[in-house]
Amino acid sequence: MLGRSYHIKTFGCQMNKYDSERIAGLLEDAGLRAVDAPDDADVIVFLTCCVREGADERLYGQVASLKRLKTAGKTPLIAVGGCIGQRDGEDLQKRIPHIDVVFGTHNLNELVSLLQRAAASKTPQVSRWEDSSAADFERLAPELREHPFHAWLPISVGCNNFCSYCIVPYVRGREVSRPLDEIVEAARELVADGVREITLLGQNVNSYGRDRYGEPRFAEALEAVAACGVSRLGFATSHPKDLSDATIAVMAATPAVLRYLHLPVQHGNDEVLAAMRRVYTRAQYLERVGALRAAIPDITLSTDIIVGFPGETEAQFEDTLDLVRQVGFDQAFTFIYSPREGTRAAALPDQIPHELALERFERLAALVQTSATERNAALQGSTQSVLFEGPSKRDPALMTGRTRGYKLVHVPVPAGADQSALRGKELLVRITGTQAFYLQGTLE
Ligand code: SAH
Ligand code: SF4
Ligand code: F3S
Repeated sequence: MLGRSYHIKTFGCQMNKYDSERIAGLLEDAGLRAVDAPDDADVIVFLTCCVREGADERLYGQVASLKRLKTAGKTPLIAVGGCIGQRDGEDLQKRIPHIDVVFGTHNLNELVSLLQRAAASKTPQVSRWEDSSAADFERLAPELREHPFHAWLPISVGCNNFCSYCIVPYVRGREVSRPLDEIVEAARELVADGVREITLLGQNVNSYGRDRYGEPRFAEALEAVAACGVSRLGFATSHPKDLSDATIAVMAATPAVLRYLHLPVQHGNDEVLAAMRRVYTRAQYLERVGALRAAIPDITLSTDIIVGFPGETEAQFEDTLDLVRQVGFDQAFTFIYSPREGTRAAALPDQIPHELALERFERLAALVQTSATERNAALQGSTQSVLFEGPSKRDPALMTGRTRGYKLVHVPVPAGADQSALRGKELLVRITGTQAFYLQGTLE
């Protein structure tokens, strides 16, 4: 018996968000119920991220602070999974002895039995994968989705790209694509279950099928899932080298596919892109953006950018600024390069001092804000179809939702309307105000 309640704390990317919905499903199946505060939980699960150093440190701090629960006479079981669990395994348990279970990124199916064994034997349990080719997409239990109307649907796991700065291939393993008939069956079940929006997931989602010679590729998978009748279909994360004309054509021709693409560029200079092992040039990236915009003129485009990669000169950094100006991104997630042990870039000479990287980061962030502001301002007065998620975190008198270009919108709840009745509904909204990172509007 594991107790009655659980609490899950999730860091990192959408894969972890999906895994936390799966774990919630598993624990519900085992008879536990979710609680908001870790202090009230019998089982506390952390899903961790190690893509940058900051995320690593936060985890150690947060888990360490739970020692107070154990010393205060409570005996919650503490489990740590995700990418730090996979990377550190037994070392993590040794460093923080009050952790009861450490599990890897492909070991979710063992979580309940690991917890049971840890509880019965009072000895910590550790399980992580050695060989990632055994990726298993099988459903463990019905997921407990954060929003009943939205579902993540993994179509591949792992990554074969080994960008020189990135730890993901080491902690998520090699790329394995899921057979298309399984994906379509899962999508049909989700639609039958009332899901309105599906996000296809993969570390490198649009290289889907490359590991299965002769099998359907990403464009066909996108088309096949859209044909299951879902209202909205998104996908993340796409690599520029794998953005095919066929995919652009399916995106343009399929109304359910969101008018949104997250296409990480990482840098604007060819030498740095080569050192990052991104395998495209600036010109090739710009060519793909041109092809996208020719086919889907109103597409929302977001990206990821790293500043302070080893050896980055001022002139190279300015190429990044110039690329941001040239593309006019709707949104960009910007990161200061963080050396990750075991990756190629961590061993490069000329690591950039933090103050210099920070100064560049701030210049880039200011430019991104200007670009985002301008792109959103162009939507003033337009009518957008918005899928409503729930009350705004900042102001419960506002509902938040997303347009078909995946822009965040805040809308005042009409007098007398029931907020919960709007949740999961797609309605027309007139845009009455625009900011850098969200839109304001009223129901039509
Ligand atoms: N598979 C996705 C996500 C990778 S992690 C992709 O390829 O886009 C998300 C982002 O974190 C990356 O796009 C990159 O911009 C950033 N990132 C990864 N490793 C990093 C590092 N060592 N330092 C700083 N940023 C990093
Ligand atoms: Fe990391 Fe590159 Fe793979 Fe993305 S494509 S997960 S940045 S190695
Ligand atoms: Fe982080 Fe792992 Fe995702 S390192 S970004 S949680 S794949």
